[in-house]
This record gives sequence, structure tokens and C-alpha cells, in this order.
Amino acid sequence: MKKPTIPQKDPYKVKVEKDKTYFWCVCGLTQKQPICDGSHSKP
Ligand code: FES
Repeated sequence: MKKPTIPQKDPYKVKVEKDKTYFWCVCGLTQKQPICDGSHSKP
């Protein structure tokens, strides 16, 4: 089984804008933690 990618074990402080949709990275591979950048679908 592949080891999980854990970029940080502490909470992230993120500024967000009202009515904008954000996708939380659940794979740990994004370069824009904690927001998904599409890295999960790269081979
Ligand atoms: S869910 Fe992690 S990069 Fe998309």
C-alpha cells in the first residue's frame, strides 16, 4: 500500500472570498496547499 502524503499536520489559515468555490485537496499532492491544483490526476 502506498504511503499517504501529509504536507502539514497543523491547520491552514486561508483567506477566501464570498460566493467563490474552493476545492480542498484530499490527496496531499497539490503545490497550493490546502487547495486542489489538479495534481491528483497526474500520473
Ligand atoms: S485533491 Fe489533491 S491535488 Fe487535487
